[in-house]
Amino acid sequence: MIGDWLDIGSAQQIEAGTARTLPVEDASGAKVREIAVFRTMRGEFFAIENTCPHRQGPLSQGIVHGDVVTCPLHNWNISLRTGMALGGDEGCVPTIPLRVDAGRLYLLRSAVIGSGNQAEAA
Ligand code: FES
Repeated sequence: MIGDWLDIGSAQQIEAGTARTLPVEDASGAKVREIAVFRTMRGEFFAIENTCPHRQGPLSQGIVHGDVVTCPLHNWNISLRTGMALGGDEGCVPTIPLRVDAGRLYLLRSAVIGSGNQAEAA
């Protein structure tokens, strides 16, 4: 069971209201995408692709309020829970299942890496 989950480190590494990024690399070491792991002010954790569905803004640099992040480029609001754009905006960013166990963060391995890929925390 634990092999299904990728340990990405201590939950303490992410301050409330902020995010850390996790690059996902292919077998050659080239970054293919980036995951943003958020901690809300209420202490919940969420993982989503670090790419705004509008014009690929870095959501990890946005403002977190409740379980929503506001993109730093054009202020779209993205649900951290569902990945959906809120309000009148349309779009969706993939979410990655995350769990917290004994103070450590785990992402569902199959949602992070495909065969032959490696992930490395930033
Ligand atoms: S790129 Fe995120 S709102 Fe435009």
